[in-house]
Amino acid sequence: MLLNLKNIYKNYGKEPLIVPVLKDISLEVIQGDYVAIMGPSGSGKTTLMNIIGCLDRASTGTYLFEDEDISEMNDDALSDLRLNKIGFVFQNFNLLSSETAQENVALPLIYAGIHKEERNHRADVALSKVGLQDRTTFKPSQLSGGQKQRVAIARALINHPRILLADEPTGALDQASGKQVMELFKALNDEGVTIIMITHDASVASHAKKILHIIDGEIIENKQGGAA
Ligand SMILES: Nc1ncnc2c1ncn2[C@@H]1O[C@H](COP(=O)(O)OP(=O)(O)O)[C@@H](O)[C@H]1O
Ligand SMILES: [Mg+2]
Repeated sequence: MLLNLKNIYKNYGKEPLIVPVLKDISLEVIQGDYVAIMGPSGSGKTTLMNIIGCLDRASTGTYLFEDEDISEMNDDALSDLRLNKIGFVFQNFNLLSSETAQENVALPLIYAGIHKEERNHRADVALSKVGLQDRTTFKPSQLSGGQKQRVAIARALINHPRILLADEPTGALDQASGKQVMELFKALNDEGVTIIMITHDASVASHAKKILHIIDGEIIENKQGGAA
């Protein structure tokens, strides 16, 4: 088991104004999985993703990442885990505007202490993988939305994370580039990349192997998706 969340609750605020946001969420993710999380705005999807990505901690419940209990890790251990084992993709790409595609993709490798020549080489390989081998020297302002998201995906995968987490990755894209980005996620999953993705789009979710519907912080439906 890659991820195992059991009876997760998350509250925001303090007494006497506690706001329960996640209620009794349980979720198992195996290697090679492709999980789509759907649900209305404000239902707790990003809160859940932040907990899965170890950007935040649950109020109660247990979370095992590769059989290790997250609640027993200190913040440094958690940030190491995040750097080495989790790739993130966001709706608004989160690229550095002053840096080229290659430099953006190579960024996580700086933290990993890899020297420049090797970093640039690995970034170029990752950019080829997402079809951007001829855009390595372009800055974000010179790229389309779909291309920016592909740069972000290359960056998320540069460290070979155990899991790729994507929070509405097509939310800022037009339909055609959104479709291309979705096909890329599907191809990556076919190659064995484990993915959890938040999406509003049912056609996007149809690629997933499991679909989780969240309403008001609760899983109301947990089913197998349509992917072969
Ligand atoms: N840091 C926070 N402090 C207080 N409330 C928050 C915080 N983050 C999110 N919330 C609340 O939690 C609920 C779920 O938010 P979120 O997880 O972002 O929903 P979704 O991603 O499904 O739109 C919302 O009501 C939101 O206002
Ligand atoms: Mg959200």
